[in-house]
Formats: sequence, C-alpha cells, structure tokens
Amino acid sequence: MSDSKYQQCINPNCRANFGIEEILFSCPKCSDLIDVQYEWDKQEVPNQLSWFEQRWAKRCAPLDYSGVWRFRELLPFCPTEHCVTIGEGQTLLQQNDEVGLYAGCEAGRLHLQYEGLNPSGSFKDNGMTGAFSHARMVGAKHVVCASTGNTSASMAMYAHSCGIKCSVFIGSGRVAYGKLSQALDFGAQTIQIVGDFDDCMRQVKRVAKEQNLYLMNSLNPFRLEGQKAIMYRVLEGLRWQVPDWVIVPGGNLGNSSAFGKAFAELHQLGLIDRIPRLAVINATGANTLFDLHENRNLRFNNGHVDSPAIDDYYRKLNETGYKPHTLATAIEISRPVNLKKCLRALEICNGLVREVSDEDILSAKAIVGRYGLGCEPASGASVAGLKLLLAEGIINPDEKVVCILTGHQLKDPNITVNYHKDNQGEFSNRPLEVENDMTAIIKALKG
Ligand code: F0G
Repeated sequence: MSDSKYQQCINPNCRANFGIEEILFSCPKCSDLIDVQYEWDKQEVPNQLSWFEQRWAKRCAPLDYSGVWRFRELLPFCPTEHCVTIGEGQTLLQQNDEVGLYAGCEAGRLHLQYEGLNPSGSFKDNGMTGAFSHARMVGAKHVVCASTGNTSASMAMYAHSCGIKCSVFIGSGRVAYGKLSQALDFGAQTIQIVGDFDDCMRQVKRVAKEQNLYLMNSLNPFRLEGQKAIMYRVLEGLRWQVPDWVIVPGGNLGNSSAFGKAFAELHQLGLIDRIPRLAVINATGANTLFDLHENRNLRFNNGHVDSPAIDDYYRKLNETGYKPHTLATAIEISRPVNLKKCLRALEICNGLVREVSDEDILSAKAIVGRYGLGCEPASGASVAGLKLLLAEGIINPDEKVVCILTGHQLKDPNITVNYHKDNQGEFSNRPLEVENDMTAIIKALKG
C-alpha cells in the first residue's frame, strides 16, 4: 500500500483508511461512503493551473490528449501505465448570450459546459476513465452498474475497449432509446429489471458484493476522481478564472460531489483563491435532495450528518410507495447514493438546491437546442434552475455562471420529437405537413 494515496471513510467518527488497491464501495466498518485521498505534499503538483496548457499541443500522447488525464497530477491515484483513455473530455465551454438572455443573465455572463461531446455522449466518460483505470489496476474481470442510461452506455463503451465483461441493470421502460441502443451496440449484457433505477441500484449493490463484481456506479470513488476534471476544464475554458456559480442537474449526485471535492482540493493546494457557489437542480418529480436540504434543513454539518433523518425519509418513501417520475429520466432517482458527499459539496461551495418542473426543463432544453448546443432533458434542468435563481434574485444578472450540459441532444430523440411535433411547449417547432405538390410546398415555405 502506497501511503501517499489511500481511500478513506467520509464519516468523521470512523475515518478508517484503506489501501488504494482495495475494491470498496462503502466503508467495511461503518458502511459510509469512501473517498480517495492524497497526501498532497508527497505529490508533484504544479504551482499554477496554466501549467497544464503545455499538454494541449500533444495530440499524439493519449494521456495528454485526454481531457481528464492531462490533469493527472490532480488525481494521482494511478500509475500512468494503468490509465485507460479513449479520448474523453474533448468538451467545450461556450459563452451563450441567447440562452443567457432567456434565463435573465447579462450578455457575456452565461457559459455552457457541453459534456455531450464525450465519446459516449455524456459526462459519464470522465468518471469511467477513472474507474476503469482503477479496475485495470486491481485486475477486475467483470464490471456492473445500475443505470438510467448514460452510465450503462459509457461503462459498456469502456468495458469493450478494455476487454472486460460488463453487465448493466436498467429499469424496464425507463431508459431513453439513444442510451439503450448504445449499451446493446457495445455488447453489454443488459438486464432489464421490472422496477425503477432505485430498485436496480439496490440489486446491483447486493449482487456486486455477493458475486465479487466491480461496481461502476458513482459510489465508486474513482469515478468521482475522473469527474473532478469537468471543473478543471471549466476553469481552463475561463482562462483559469473562477466563476461565481456552477449549476448542475442532480440525480445520483456524483457530479455535484466530485465538483465540491475538486474545488476543495484546488483551494487547499492554493491553485484557486476562492470557491464558486454550487446550485444543484432536481426535477420536481425526483426531488429528494431538494426536500431534504431546503425543506428539512439537512446539512453535512462537518461530516456529522443526521443519518436517522435520512433513514426516516426513505422509510416514509417506502411506506407511501413513492416512485419518482420525471420526463428527464436520467435524473429520475429518489435515493441518491452520493447524498452525503453532495451535502459536503454544498457545504464547501456555499451551495443550494432547487427543483424545476418538467415543463420548465423542456422549455430550457428547447432554448439550448435552438441557440446552439442541443442537450438531453436532464441537462435542461441546469438552465431552468438558472432562470429560477435569477427570478428569485439569488443569482445576479451580472454574475458569471456556468451551466453544465450533462448529455447530448441525441440521447433522447423521442422526447424532443414529441415536444415539437405535438406542440407541447412555447418553443415547439412543428413540422408542416404538405401535399406532394410544388404550389403547396411554396405556399408552406412562405407561410
Ligand atoms: N444528467 C445526465 C444526462 C445523467 O445521465 C445523469 C445521471 C445526471 C445528469 C445526474 O448526475 O447522478 O451525478 O447527479 N445519470 C445516471 C445514469 C444516474 O445512470 O446514467 P448525477
């Protein structure tokens, strides 16, 4: 065991340490979540973020080309010979005044971080490159995950490129076709469970433990190490300036957790001088985090989370037979596995949580589509959340904001086509049906 990098339980009453090569998805002593930790004074970390720019030019060096591993000094858990990359993280930060105007920002203030450009079309590739590197390091033979679609697509893509067997658990009927088609195409063994994501998550945790399989959900701390790189690229896109706000949709809460860790570490290392505020956006039909954080005042409390309150909340969900429901199926989750780490991120980033309706999500998604980068419904939640926070006066129009667009427009074409074809919202763009006749076509063109 190399002691300058290790795994550690996040519970301050436990804080048990484990070797970096152990395969753990919860603390064996107290069942809490696990972090990857570094003794930074024993790592070689550059003293300025702009140092990383020298790697931009090296397209022939796969790890320098990767939008994750070019920051490898900031996630130094893995010897480079084990690092897996398929060119993830070639994403872009786009300043977008039209979308900003829709939300209520002043010109020049809104940036969209477009993670749909990853090889499998979502931000998940940032995490998978981290977790697969660890999986290879420890010789995993069979990887599994539960998924609302994107995790399975990404895991299947990496598994097939690493030659590792993979099985995905999905809720039947709850995965958008773009994502399901990817998992099938990449050759994943696809197990459709009669149930929703939360049912799949519960089963996959049990099966992975029982069968010694390597779990690829964001409970896996090495996934979150990779997802920190999304924030490094945001800073890079802003020429290393820290934005005022980062806004991200919340599902299983891996991204928000990773972002909080990234900023805490950069601040600790003296690489940034302040930490941006974080807004996590739930769909109203899957709003556990919103309800717990905003209505019931649940806080990280320096690690002393009121766990009985969470257990009680989940017990009531069970008793009432509550099932989450949102058109943004990617975030249709009521028992987010990273809840405590997300609370920690909210504490680090002076963050807050909001819920937005499906209608607002679809409007924001349509605006993102019309004015530049298309995205899938869950990603629209970040722009809908921005609009709400501006209307509430919590975000000022002159503040610099980054909305994370987590997944590509083509992930869920059914939602998009139905929205436009059936005139479902104020930004619907209905196709015109005309006779197979030139006069009729010209009339339609002029209409
Ligand atoms: N946006 C998209 C497009 C997603 O696929 C997900 C999660 C989220 C946002 C939420 O991110 O879990 O880090 O809070 N998708 C998971 C999946 C759950 O299985 O693909 P989170």
